[in-house]
Amino acid sequence: MSRPNLQIALDHNDLEHALADVFKVGEVVDILEVGTILCLQEGQKAIRCVRGMFPNKTVVADTKCADAGGTVAKNVADAGADFMTVICCATIPTMEAAKKEVKELQVELYGDWTYKQAEAWREIGIKQAIYHQSRDALLSGETWGEKDLSKVKKLIEMGFNVSVTGGLDVDTLKLFEGIDVYTFITGRGITAAEDPVKAAEAFKNEIIRIWGQ
Ligand code: 5RP
Repeated sequence: MSRPNLQIALDHNDLEHALADVFKVGEVVDILEVGTILCLQEGQKAIRCVRGMFPNKTVVADTKCADAGGTVAKNVADAGADFMTVICCATIPTMEAAKKEVKELQVELYGDWTYKQAEAWREIGIKQAIYHQSRDALLSGETWGEKDLSKVKKLIEMGFNVSVTGGLDVDTLKLFEGIDVYTFITGRGITAAEDPVKAAEAFKNEIIRIWGQ
């Protein structure tokens, strides 16, 4: 089992604050995500800036794309993104078109989806899934628990590299001990902290404590 990556989600409303945070913590984390909110606000410009600041890091465009997969994927790849997300209800042709343009496509699991759909994603060669607790579900009282762990494990058994996200804090990580999580994605756990560098280091150290170097 390898050590899960740590990914920061830049879900800022403006580029200036996103760049200020990524400047501080970019070298601590493994993967840099231009989050959905920032993609909608600043688009390609945000991806170009993050890529320019960190030429050797993996950059994700969290577009949660539902349609026009090929065009959206070409645009984010041209700006420097390695990975891009599509929403799980996108059609297979949308996913296939997007997949051709980026290094790796990630399917974001929200709301209703089935393992039959997941098999179809594997059949077209998609390797990555993101298991998500939405902000709105968390706000309405959902918490991480066994129901999530069993779905994450099943997706891993199906051959996916599974990232986990949604309101994570350092204490949540130990729930996943013994599970081959690909990446933990956190936004506010780092960006809303009083000291984002210390917060990123705390996530990283907990990952190393549980999964080793
Ligand atoms: C929202 C997202 C977020 O980027 C992701 O869930 C991480 O955010 P946070 O840790 O702040 O919940 O994809 O749609």
